[in-house]
Amino acid sequence: TTIPATLIPGDGIGPEITEAVVQILDAVQAPFAWDRQYGGLAGIDHGGEPMPQATLDSIRRTKLALKGPLTTPVGGGFRSVNVRLRETFGLYANVRPAKTLTGGGRYEDIDIVLIRENLEGLYVAFEHFIAVGDDPEAVAISQGVNTKAECRRIVRYAFDYALANGRKKVTVVHKANVLKALTGIFLTAGKEIAKEYEGRVAMDDRIVDACAMQLVMKPEQFDVIVTTNLFGDILSDQIAGLVGGLGMAPGANIGPDVAIFEAVHGSAPDIAGKGIANPLALLLASCLMLEHVGEGQKAKAVRDAVDAVLNTDKIKTGDLGGSASTKDFAAAIIKRLA
Ligand code: NAI
Ligand code: MG
Repeated sequence: TTIPATLIPGDGIGPEITEAVVQILDAVQAPFAWDRQYGGLAGIDHGGEPMPQATLDSIRRTKLALKGPLTTPVGGGFRSVNVRLRETFGLYANVRPAKTLTGGGRYEDIDIVLIRENLEGLYVAFEHFIAVGDDPEAVAISQGVNTKAECRRIVRYAFDYALANGRKKVTVVHKANVLKALTGIFLTAGKEIAKEYEGRVAMDDRIVDACAMQLVMKPEQFDVIVTTNLFGDILSDQIAGLVGGLGMAPGANIGPDVAIFEAVHGSAPDIAGKGIANPLALLLASCLMLEHVGEGQKAKAVRDAVDAVLNTDKIKTGDLGGSASTKDFAAAIIKRLA
């Protein structure tokens, strides 16, 4: 059986890492039938828009996408294509796993999944300036929005994720001591929903600043973290740093019907075209996608091959201190899968 899926190679290093990942997925006989579409600068080159209608139509049809990094053109009034995708398909849950794959980092055994609310909070960007005297931008105002329904939905997603993935604890991260309404509503939803999972998944909570410190000092205390949009944006990059940086960080954007999988990093214009980018983040994103469609065994085969290549063969790209090219690294994975 084949599963139709949209493939957006993207910009910069996007096409290089996408090609590597598609070859590896072919080697493991992944079921995806790719519908290749443009986005970002490539979208502008091929028809004038960073998020072409044809790409949106494809995702609406397949409900499943693997997406390379997209460059949002500076100026020209373009909105972030990533935000556009989130809003168009209501992708409310951003899932960001951070797991140690190879030694040499600050910690040896990190395995944290951060689940970020992706649509609300301060990122709704109800913003404006107020003039004082002759300065039109003397005061900046921003209003955040969190709804009870959305807080409950994302917390429930986190608990269901924990159950489905054999995890023991969900930590609700907030700032309810200061932002009593905006993030108090989130903590309250956390406590409410947690009751339904009592005896199956434990719940605790942290204030975001203390959580940031503890993630650095004692990260092994965390299992699944669920938090609001802004805090999740920051903490998810922090946990990526704990396990070796953006080159290894995958992400999933999940909505009621559509799921889009991506590397967390951008198009890396500084190394684009050189053939040296690390394809691991996008490859791990494709593993999340395999798991999403019930092909967990194929995902495990890829993860095991990654483990063997990094830790036994000691083949790594430059960002991880090695000297392998993107193609060398992909070839080593495919050899391990054979
Ligand atoms: P970036 O993530 O592209 O690069 C930051 C640094 O990490 C660079 O030194 C880069 O060489 C390195 N790096 C990133 N991915 C790597 C990989 N796979 N292997 C080896 N090294 C890697 O962030 P930057 O420079 O801030 O953004 C560049 C462009 O990407 C911007 O146009 C931005 O809008 C876009 N972007 C797109 C995202 C997306 O589509 N999800 C996310 C973040 C940025
Ligand atoms: Mg971010």
